[in-house]
Amino acid sequence: MSDPDPAKLAASRAAIELVRDGMRVGLGTGSTASVMVRELAAKVQAEGLALRCAATSQATADLAESLGLRIESLDQIGWLDLTIDGADEVDPDLNLIKGGGAAHLREKIVAMASDRMVVIADPGKVVEQLGAFHLPVEALAFGFETTRELIRRALEDLGLKGRPILQRLRDGEPVITDEGNYILDLALEAIPDAPALARALSAIPGVVEHGLFLGICHLAIIGRADGSVVELR
Ligand code: A5P
Repeated sequence: MSDPDPAKLAASRAAIELVRDGMRVGLGTGSTASVMVRELAAKVQAEGLALRCAATSQATADLAESLGLRIESLDQIGWLDLTIDGADEVDPDLNLIKGGGAAHLREKIVAMASDRMVVIADPGKVVEQLGAFHLPVEALAFGFETTRELIRRALEDLGLKGRPILQRLRDGEPVITDEGNYILDLALEAIPDAPALARALSAIPGVVEHGLFLGICHLAIIGRADGSVVELR
């Protein structure tokens, strides 16, 4: 593996300092979370820690297990002390957009089953207002075009310019999530009222989960290229 991005490494190292022996830890998904999982596995080995870990995706479970971390299902563990995950956008109130890696459904369940959710990110993820990053929405395959139309109408009702795009394709077919669903991405440019959008999306039956994480994150650790970190609380 090539050397990790120094900003992601700095954020990861600062975050795993929060991990103590015996903790139940949620492991996020994505390139930043992968750096963190590698650092955590090294710490566990060096310090002989006993952790119970739940993964937010199959990819993270596979990586963690390949590094010697023991992964259990969330239900086996029950509740977590701490989850460490990446994000696509972080605003000044620690509201997030997540799901760039199509894992936000499991990520949200794991984050909400945790006493603390800590986000690790590089400075490019920090925004004044959410929405430049296309908002991921996981949708059921059944009635998918209906769900898409209902989302389009909801955006119109909220006065939001933008549309739901099916942009994640593999071999010409829609990408399927770990839970067997499709992903739509909402190209909105800006989300002035994130709670209103979250409510509207959650009210659509075919929407399984959207990537707005509002009031869920407790701490964001922003790593910098020089190895320093800034904490947003
Ligand atoms: C996975 O679905 C996402 O929520 C990721 O945590 C998010 O996209 C951040 O990924 P990177 O660390 O790769 O930017």
